[in-house]
This record gives sequence, structure tokens and C-alpha cells, in this order.
Amino acid sequence: MISNNEFSNRDKNLYFCTSNQYFMAKQEDAFKKVVSHAKEYGFIFPSSEIYDGLSAVYDYGQNGAELKNNIKQYWWKAMVQLNENIVGIDSAILMHPTTWKASGHVDAFNDPLIDNKDSKKRFRADVLIEDYCAKLEDKAQKEIDKAAKRFGDAFDKAQFEATNSRVIDYREKQKSILSRMAQSLDNNDLADVKALIEELEIADPDTGSNNWTEVRQFNLMFGTKLGASAEHAMDLYLRPETAQGIFVNFLNVQKTSRHKLPFGIAQIGKAFRNEIVARQFIFRMREFEQMEMQFFVPPGTELKFYEEWKQKRLNWHLALGLGEENYKFHDHQKLAHYANAAADIEFKFPFGFKELEGIHSRTDFDLNAHEQHSGRKLQYFDPERNENYVPYVVETSIGLDRLFLALMSNCLKDEVLEDGSERTVLSLPPALAPVKAAILPLMKKDGLGEYAEKIFDDLKYDFNLIYEDKDSIGKRYRRNDALGTPYCITVDHESLSDHTVTLRDRDTMKQERVAVSELRRIIDEKTNFRNLLSQLS
Ligand code: GAP
Repeated sequence: MISNNEFSNRDKNLYFCTSNQYFMAKQEDAFKKVVSHAKEYGFIFPSSEIYDGLSAVYDYGQNGAELKNNIKQYWWKAMVQLNENIVGIDSAILMHPTTWKASGHVDAFNDPLIDNKDSKKRFRADVLIEDYCAKLEDKAQKEIDKAAKRFGDAFDKAQFEATNSRVIDYREKQKSILSRMAQSLDNNDLADVKALIEELEIADPDTGSNNWTEVRQFNLMFGTKLGASAEHAMDLYLRPETAQGIFVNFLNVQKTSRHKLPFGIAQIGKAFRNEIVARQFIFRMREFEQMEMQFFVPPGTELKFYEEWKQKRLNWHLALGLGEENYKFHDHQKLAHYANAAADIEFKFPFGFKELEGIHSRTDFDLNAHEQHSGRKLQYFDPERNENYVPYVVETSIGLDRLFLALMSNCLKDEVLEDGSERTVLSLPPALAPVKAAILPLMKKDGLGEYAEKIFDDLKYDFNLIYEDKDSIGKRYRRNDALGTPYCITVDHESLSDHTVTLRDRDTMKQERVAVSELRRIIDEKTNFRNLLSQLS
């Protein structure tokens, strides 16, 4: 199998662009391909598409729903099933409105927005500045790569980073820009955020215009109402994070589970944010799903657990096999109002490294705030310390849809095969694949259809399967490659007499003859969650 690095027509046109434009256009192509593949193969559709859709809201189709459920299972098993001291809950989306006053979301869950007067496009002011800094980091990285090439094996990266004046300048500039932005945002000095954008000569990335409005704060929460009549209706919010459902249940769960600290509460559920800029498919949605875990620890131990969870969560991602080089930590300079340390695990999406998961040391901020606003004690009696206290919290929070996008964009590949033909394959980790095996009778007649149906009926209790008897076998193989199905099982005339079938592997495309009685074991070995989970211990 040969990977596709041919010079396409589009490439030829792009040859005359600058290398940066060329690179960006290639990334855009790759991203467009993911979006269209997701629709064509029943993974993701625009929401209410027949009415022209709803911006930044998406529906998951038949294969998307399966993949999503498998991602959830991987997370739930890793967090709840493998950790004796973590339990899972499912709290309501609607919560008492005081929850959001206490958590700080009513007053502080804002993004600074800025409009471009010429293009009429809206941007997050902080993201424009962060993107500017990311470009400085790219420049530093280019210097490092150049030197690594020049010095070969003798290259000492740490020493070069510490002594090369260009790398030092690029990094110091980034640091000073980010710390000025953090300070201005903390002081709500939005005029200075705009001044910074102007001083750095940041322009609208699409049009190059730097004709900006003032920076304004915009609250991201969606409001709704509870009650039958307008006069008596109560103003509520759709939750912008699942975490608060865990905090308000801390004592209920601790008392009923009888867990001692440290222990964790995990949850998977929908969250809603009225995002200002939502242009990147399912990367930034207005309705999305989070998988969050709050780990309650004794005060003073939180930073130790924070470091532990950073590593554990990275390992969980690495077990998926998407490539170590596609992940990096980004330690926050500007901390949210509740945190004393925070980092993102960033993933290399088709549009660059972006946040996939957040790990936050949230101190005792949330439980303290809920104590104050509810008047109820949310404390833990620690028998070892012989005292009551409000626990500290380390949180891990991953966007389910973002991981979905990471998988789709990393696993979708075009390949040119040795015979010159092409195929599109979605090489998902087998445990996450929507369909584990396709049962394909070579033809429907001569009893092959019935025999294939018998195999299907026998295996359907253990695996999600599809049965397909239309189209040529080659077309059916291609279609299942594009869906990410790890195995195709072909039933032919020989099967009727010797009870064997052809088993085709999605990734190697190797075909082997196996006994029907072996199929359950073989599929299970390939697709069992154990393959992922055993890498975590
Ligand atoms: N409880 C902490 C919290 O909500 P966050 O960094 O705002 O922290 C956590 O969100 C994760 O949720 C992010 O790392 C991201 O994966 C996901 N996420 C946040 N906003 C999102 C959006 N608009 N669309 C899709 N995923 C989003």
C-alpha cells in the first residue's frame, strides 16, 4: 500500500502561492473532506437541515451515534469502572438559577468580542491575540527545526532553546503579550485589549482589514423559562457545563457511596453555550456534550493530584493511537476565576493545535460558593485529620464532540493501492468503530444469503454488525473501509460445504479463510475495549 502524495491539479495551482498559503489551503481541503465524509457516511448532519440548518448545531446520524456511544463507553469505563474511587452520575440539565450565580457564570462567563467594521465579522478578541502568539511560536519552532537539521545527531534541543537569541525573543514576546492580555481581562480593561490588537497590527484573518470596533463582554449562557404563565415563570439557564450538577450533589454522593477523600464523581452530558464565533464544524458548537470528572481531595494536596490527572488523561488519549506528536499540553497563563492551576491537552486538528480537554485545579471555590448561596454545609469530616473542611477539586473536562472530530480528522485517509486504485479508509480504533463487522454474502441466491443471515443472527448479540447483499463485493469493501468497519466477512459457495468464510482486515486488506465457529473470538479480540483499557494501568 502506498500513501497518496501525488501532485494533484489543485496542488499544481497552489504551487504558485507562498508556502504558508499552500499549507493553509491543504489544511482547508483536509478539513472540508472530513465534513463531507461525515455527512455522506451518516456520521453528522446539519441540525434541521430541511430548514437550512441552525448555526453551530449538529445532529449525529446512524454511524455518528454509534461512534459517540463508543467514545462515551471508553471514557466511562476508564474513569468509573477502572477507578475504584470514582462513581458516575447523571444530573439534570436544568438547575436552580442560584447555581449559576454561585458558580460565577452569571457575572463572569463572558467572552470578549470584537467586530471588524469592514468585513462585519465577529471575533473573540482573546483568540485573535492567542493566534498571533501561536504564530510567534511557529517561528520559534522553525528555528529549532532548521538547527536540528543542520546539527543532526549532535543537536541539543534544550541548549539551543535556552541560548538562541531568536527563539528567546519570540518566546519572550509571546509571554509578555499573553500576560498583558491576562491582566487586562482580569481588570476588565477592554480598552487595553483593543489597544494590544492595534499595537500588534492584528488584522481580520480573512480580509486583512484592521478596522476594529471596541471590545465588549458577551455572556455565553442560554436563558429559558420554567412555568405555565409569563408572570409566574422562573428564569432559568441551560447549563453551560456539567460540573455544577456534580458540585451540588457532592454530599448526596459522598454520603450514599461512603467514599473517603480522595474520590471522584464523573458525568457525561449536554452543555449549551451561545458561542460568539462558531465556524469550525463540531469543534465549537452551541449545544455539545462534555465528559467531566471532579476529583475531591484534601486541601493542600490538589496540585499533586492535578499533576497526576494531567498525565493520566494524556495516557488515555495516547492509548487511542492517533500519534504522540499530535498532542501537547498548554499551561494557562490566564486562570479562570475558580482555578489555581490549569492546562489544556491540545490536539493537532486540521486547523492547527487546539484545546481538546481541560484539566483544572478548581480549589474549593465552587463548594464554598454553593455553601454561601444555599446556606447548607458542604463539608467533609476527615477522620485522619480529625477535622471538617470543604474539599478541594481537580477537574478533568473533555468535549465529546471535539474528540469525535479529532478521531474523524486523524483517521480519515486516502490511499493509493499497489494496483493504482484508490480507497478512502477511516482507520478508527476498532473498539470505537460504529460497526464491528460487515456480513457480505457474495450473492443472495444459492443459499448464500440465508447462510450469511445465520452468521449475522448468531453474532448480533455480541457486536454491532451490518448485513449487505447489494453491489459488487469490491464496492462493499470500499464502503465499509470508509465507515471504519474493522472486518468484512464474505460468505461464498465454499462456506456452505466447509463452514469457512473470508475475513478481510480493514487496515491491512489481508484476506484469510477462517472457520465460522472462530468468528466471535476473532472479532472480540480485535474490537474489545480491553485493548484500549489495558494500556492505561
Ligand atoms: N467544567 C469546565 C469547563 O467547562 P471548558 O474548558 O470551558 O471547561 C471543557 O470546557 C471542554 O469542553 C473543552 O476542553 C472542550 O473540549 C469542550 N467544549 C467547550 N466549549 C465547547 C463548544 N462550544 N463546543 C464543543 N466543545 C466545547
